[in-house]
Amino acid sequence: MGDVRTLAARMAQIAPFEVMEVLDAARRLEASGRDVIHLEVGEPDFPTPAPVIRAAHAALDAHPMFYTSAVGMPELREAIAGWYGRAFGVEVPAERIIVTSGSSAALVMALGALVDPGDRVLMSDPGYPCNRNLVRYLGAEPVLVPCGPEHAYQLTADLAAAAWGPTTRAAIAASPSNPTGTCLTRDQWSDLANVCRRGGGVLIADEIYQGLVYDGPAETVLAVADDVWVVNSFSKYFQMTGWRLGWLVVPEGATRDIEKVAQNLYISAPTPAQYAALAALSDEGLAVVEERRAELGRRRDVLLDELPKIGFAIRARPSGAFYIYCDVSAFTADSFAFAAWLLQETGVALTPGRDFGDAAPRQHLRIAYTQPTERLREAVHRIGNALELLPRRV
Ligand SMILES: Cc1ncc(COP(=O)(O)O)c(C=O)c1O
Repeated sequence: MGDVRTLAARMAQIAPFEVMEVLDAARRLEASGRDVIHLEVGEPDFPTPAPVIRAAHAALDAHPMFYTSAVGMPELREAIAGWYGRAFGVEVPAERIIVTSGSSAALVMALGALVDPGDRVLMSDPGYPCNRNLVRYLGAEPVLVPCGPEHAYQLTADLAAAAWGPTTRAAIAASPSNPTGTCLTRDQWSDLANVCRRGGGVLIADEIYQGLVYDGPAETVLAVADDVWVVNSFSKYFQMTGWRLGWLVVPEGATRDIEKVAQNLYISAPTPAQYAALAALSDEGLAVVEERRAELGRRRDVLLDELPKIGFAIRARPSGAFYIYCDVSAFTADSFAFAAWLLQETGVALTPGRDFGDAAPRQHLRIAYTQPTERLREAVHRIGNALELLPRRV
């Protein structure tokens, strides 16, 4: 291990993922022979769709797998542009689309291009933990805006306007959201973009769970604004987490700046993954993920029915992603200890709220419905039985 005294001061501000502790404990339990139901992991349980795997094999046989252009293979950028047209009726020129090494790289590059040290960046609390850590990594300051269930846990325009200050440079919002599964409507995106514009800043839209919606059609902020920075990914809807491929849509004129950063940061996104992703966007690939979306919707509906029966309160309807954010304050004042207890008692692994922010994390757990329906029912059944041993706090 390196000498910590040689590290930059900013390193002290980067928090690890607490969910990893849950995962480690769950794995230890599994190794001891217990049947563990994993509802803590933030990736789909489906393997990468077969058409994508086939395309990868064919590409490996046919191509030398050199670096691609730093902004991605032209045919993939065109395919993504075509998908925006077909799926959303939105015209996004391929020149504004940059293929990245996961949406994580897209987020780093967008933030790096937009914020200077000391700038403030607004984001929802609860929200995806990397956002605040990456902002800190760049010497800027994350502003965690408490977003309650009355705002569907989202950074809405009114909350952003109230939190905006002279040094605010950007706002990040995710729809559908991790950890809450809630979404912003087209009008809400438009209002939020207006607040950022009026404040002289920018909106960074995280649409990595785009496509995974269950109550209506998928949306994109690009339908209502083209001066926003949009982070997207092949990880979730297209079920390609391990391929490390995402994309960034930038406003007109910004591509060259991001291209420079990509060249320096990772040269180009993985070439085999880029060939494979072409098949993800084909009719055949989309048919597979659409079937799986329907299955995820059925799982969500089961949990929406079952969780309230055991006292897990759902305060805002999760209409997307594969997460449900539950208020468990009826049972505990410390969701971390509660999740640890549930794991030992029932073998069900859930994520305590602490990773997702400072606003009421002790009151919440995140459930990822990344297991088949019968396993979800079994999980709720086990938790329900264990909770009967507990006195309710209220
Ligand atoms: C909200 C959100 N944004 C971005 C990411 C990064 O995903 P990837 O780098 O696999 O595209 C994740 C991953 O869980 C996420 O939940």
